[in-house]
Amino acid sequence: MSKALKEARPFAETIVAWQKLHGRHHLPWQNTQDPYRVWLSEIMLQQTQVSTVLAYYEKFLQHFPTVADLAAASQDKVMGLWSGLGYYSRARNLHQCAKDVVARFDGQFPSTAAELITLPGIGRSTAAAVASFCFSERVAIMDGNVKRVLTRVWAFDADLSVNQNEKALWQMAEKALPTRQLKTAMPRYSQALMDLGATICLPRKPNCQACPVKPECQALAQGEPEKFPVKTRKVKRTSEVLWLLLAHNAKGEVWLEKRPSKGIWASLYSLPVFESDASLREVFASPSQSPSQSPSQLPRQLEVSVLPSFKHVLTHKDLHCHVVKVKLAQKPNTPQPGAWWAEKKWTALGLPTPIRHLLSNSL
Ligand code: ADE
Repeated sequence: MSKALKEARPFAETIVAWQKLHGRHHLPWQNTQDPYRVWLSEIMLQQTQVSTVLAYYEKFLQHFPTVADLAAASQDKVMGLWSGLGYYSRARNLHQCAKDVVARFDGQFPSTAAELITLPGIGRSTAAAVASFCFSERVAIMDGNVKRVLTRVWAFDADLSVNQNEKALWQMAEKALPTRQLKTAMPRYSQALMDLGATICLPRKPNCQACPVKPECQALAQGEPEKFPVKTRKVKRTSEVLWLLLAHNAKGEVWLEKRPSKGIWASLYSLPVFESDASLREVFASPSQSPSQSPSQLPRQLEVSVLPSFKHVLTHKDLHCHVVKVKLAQKPNTPQPGAWWAEKKWTALGLPTPIRHLLSNSL
């Protein structure tokens, strides 16, 4: 056969062969087909890099060797172990998902992407990752890394902030899946896409020389692979001012309350949060604000100081935090229920990172 007529090796086969030789093989969630372990790693890896996930992954497996152990744990324990990983809705969904697997599937993760996607916190790509890694299902993953690899190989320049375009890319991804020896090819193919995105096809400086699909990469042929993926719509950032009450007592304990299940820092423990300095000070300074409490019962403030303000950056929001530190002889009269916590106890709580830093540095 002349060279021109020879069929090119399919994309999937090329990257599967590359993964075998050059991909990652020793991550702790690889070399297992246990859907509990794979699911746990995929949820942790959704917005967090591998190097950070490693310790949390091990810690979770030590505390919760099975999905039933995780389901049986208290929310406070799960949030406490997740503390520091961020994006806490992942932890709340993780816990709910474990409970659902026990309640709906008798403690066995379902084996198809179509069933997996019905569980809390499992979206289309995570369902496909678990189903392809553990059950070799022929389904396409599509996280940020994979979008970058595929849009570059195909010079897919439609705006991915438009739903329809993302759907179109997903359809192309499904067409490109392996067609042979799926039992071994599917897990390796999903891993190959992730590995290419994480180690070669980097956002700003792709290492095209080392890429197995360099000859067929249309973005490279066009000259500027870094231009892909195209995504125009940026999330609108907002900002919010928070006043935090850092109340402590003579025993060195700090007053913490559990956040509601919705909103900022949902289900975590936090210093009481107020919209203004004035509303914060009412809880220990103004008798008229608490008719039920006689002045003699009001918490006696011993020392008040305003700590340096700081900005904490969330995905869609900047939090401008002001902190009022006060030493009290009695409980503060906060709107939400709370309690005094000794350091030995609060260190194990699920706390937002800026609150943990404050407690560590300012008590
Ligand atoms: N990111 C998401 N899933 C991953 C995996 N299985 N291995 C490495 N990085 C990942």
